[in-house]
Amino acid sequence: MTKPISPSPPKRIYIQEVVTRDGFQAESTFIPPEEKIALINRLSHAGYAKIEVTSFTSPKAIPMLADAETVMQGIARVPGVEYTALIPNLRGAERALTVGVDEFNLVMSVSEAHNQANLKMGREDSFNALSKVINLAHANHIATNVSLSTSFGCPMSGMTPLADLMNWIDRFAHTGVRGITICDTTGMANPAQVNSVCEAAQSKYPHLQWTLHFHNTRGMGLANALAALNAGIDRFDSSLGGLGGCPYAPGATGNICTEELVHMFDLMGLDTRMNIDTLLECSQDLQKIIGRTLPSQLLMAGKVDKLHTAPCQT
Ligand code: COA
Ligand code: ZN
Repeated sequence: MTKPISPSPPKRIYIQEVVTRDGFQAESTFIPPEEKIALINRLSHAGYAKIEVTSFTSPKAIPMLADAETVMQGIARVPGVEYTALIPNLRGAERALTVGVDEFNLVMSVSEAHNQANLKMGREDSFNALSKVINLAHANHIATNVSLSTSFGCPMSGMTPLADLMNWIDRFAHTGVRGITICDTTGMANPAQVNSVCEAAQSKYPHLQWTLHFHNTRGMGLANALAALNAGIDRFDSSLGGLGGCPYAPGATGNICTEELVHMFDLMGLDTRMNIDTLLECSQDLQKIIGRTLPSQLLMAGKVDKLHTAPCQT
């Protein structure tokens, strides 16, 4: 007798929230640490694999996140959720060590022009500084990820050649980092390019934890996420309400919107483990925190199962 073929389980997708880092960093009105902590505490129960809580950057460069220690120490950490923070240099890593993070998310740009604008140093200097941060992390048994900004394109120097991106991937892969995030900092990627990049990166380093980080600046965000999914990626950064953008990248706007990404993946039958209703409630309340409407189309329209009464005709 032949055994019945059991259907394969839905693909597990890991959602990583960046709203309190990428989302908040360009906001002009300071959001007090208590409000950041309260939001992270609510989000911690929504099913995320990882939350990027803050960044340990210079308070002069990013005044909004000058309270990184207070926020990191104030949150109630939920088991199963990884709490990460963006680290640009050794000073940032030492600050993060004092309050404890699950992962150091290092940052540098594939484009020299953006690295200079964002981090005020050349890529070689960034790489040398980040190599020291990686050694410090490994000595303290902290996981390391590197976020490569402008991996697809840079608003100052144009589209990023795949060979340039692969060069920096090669260099970091040899430092022993756990993962690499391929970032489309200003929404310049297109689905065909995403497919080529994801295939090249994963086939060369299948053991690394790969994350794709998209911005919806030119309306290609979800199309790019789908292209990445089809190329085998299972980990995505996204921001509640679609808030976000690098203050040192001309024309930068919001990340792909978490609730839209989760809504799409859930409808496709993927296993996100996310609570979409919690996301929508938090996104609604985030509008009160920032004092304006968020770009989330799902927040405006509601989920597909939201039914309306028929409009009456006179
Ligand atoms: N945390 C806190 N303070 C820091 C710091 C850090 N990680 N790194 C540097 N500083 C302080 C220095 O102590 C110094 O302070 P002082 O003026 O009171 O003496 C000052 O910042 C300048 O230090 P320097 O080493 O010359 O840094 P810089 O001015 O060249 O800036 C970075 C370099 C990387 C620290 C800064 O550009 C930065 O934080 N960029 C992050 C940008 C970002 O997060 N962008 C969005 C994410 S994509
Ligand atoms: Zn970003």
